[in-house]
Amino acid sequence: MKYALIGCGRVSPNHITAALQNGLEVVALCDLLPEAIAALQQQFPELGAVKTYTDHRDMLRAEKPELVAIATVSGAHAAIAVDCIRAGCNVIIEKPIALSLADADLVLAEAEKANVKVCANHQNRFNSSVQAIRAALEQGRFGRLYHATAQIRWNRSKAYYDQAPWRGTWAQDGGCLMNQCIHNIDLLNWMLGSQPVSVTAVTDNLSHGYIEGEDIGLAIIRYQNGAYGTVEGTVNVFGGDLEEVLCLFGETGTVKAGGTINDVVETWRFADAPPEEEAAVKQRFSKAADHIYGCGHTPLYADMIDAIVHDRAPYVDGHAGRNALELVLAIYRSSLEHKPVSLPLSAASTLDSVGMFPNK
Ligand SMILES: NC(=O)c1ccc[n+]([C@@H]2O[C@H](COP(=O)([O-])OP(=O)(O)OC[C@H]3O[C@@H](n4cnc5c(N)ncnc54)[C@H](O)[C@@H]3O)[C@@H](O)[C@H]2O)c1
Repeated sequence: MKYALIGCGRVSPNHITAALQNGLEVVALCDLLPEAIAALQQQFPELGAVKTYTDHRDMLRAEKPELVAIATVSGAHAAIAVDCIRAGCNVIIEKPIALSLADADLVLAEAEKANVKVCANHQNRFNSSVQAIRAALEQGRFGRLYHATAQIRWNRSKAYYDQAPWRGTWAQDGGCLMNQCIHNIDLLNWMLGSQPVSVTAVTDNLSHGYIEGEDIGLAIIRYQNGAYGTVEGTVNVFGGDLEEVLCLFGETGTVKAGGTINDVVETWRFADAPPEEEAAVKQRFSKAADHIYGCGHTPLYADMIDAIVHDRAPYVDGHAGRNALELVLAIYRSSLEHKPVSLPLSAASTLDSVGMFPNK
């Protein structure tokens, strides 16, 4: 299957590794910056004489890839995705899939029209810890779910934001909820399995005066099925990344996945579990990754390739990406308006938050 990558920055090695491990034919690399492409080529000599482009439209016309991954700055995802989709390509879009609901909806509508697949790059769904929790959920082992929590307690320093001018801007990125926490927000939505109906939230910028977005966000979400979710996301943690935690609390089950990217099973209690199960699950399904991007890109690609070949929806489809985006935008709206907001939102964008932290 002919594959191309658009965006050759920090996360791009994870995409090329996933493409190569899944036997894709990498036909092209594209980035506005030739030096970014060159650095990636240097890291992957096995790509050989792969074609390179600085304009994705030229690449699409010349190479006609069947699958394209979009790993550019977040603000460019949707427009590039629409170009790819209109050229007949299936797309893996890095998170967030767009920065406004209108853009996300356009991507989904165009994909439906063109009959191509959209995969939202929420690779942590493939963590073995998360897969174990999901299996227990699908087996009904939690009983009724009461509430779930998503925490990300990380650190991003000035050096991180200085790496590229788009980071932390409302036009191209958003703050820590949109960039770092959105993976866990996707997991929260997915596990609770219901439409969020109201969000009460605060966000702030406490220690990153040089970015526009938030560096902390706290939210309480009520879901249509009566369950609650909470989100605590921050990049202010002294001393480096502490943890990314997902907890599920049901009438007959309590589970906690922690570690730096919720890839370690820390608690596993079920009413129907034999006494030895907790230790066995912790040992079998805890695989602490050595990098915060984890190991999920390769199985995510494998699933997307299978979805294309067998004409089925990908495991993490575009609607999941849109739902995670909508929840972050609802958190932003609640913080902006200092009141609870109801979902679904009719329209929302990161640009609604311009000037949110005026001292910045
Ligand atoms: N899934 C994950 O765990 C994960 C991890 C890191 C980043 N990301 C996401 O991946 C995306 C890229 O992040 P990054 O850290 O690699 O950023 P980066 O700044 O290191 O790289 C982005 C690259 O995109 C290029 N680019 C920008 N606009 C372009 C365009 N129109 N056409 C072609 N290339 C263009 C830039 O020149 C740059 O080289 C972001 O959306 C980010 O949220 C996801």
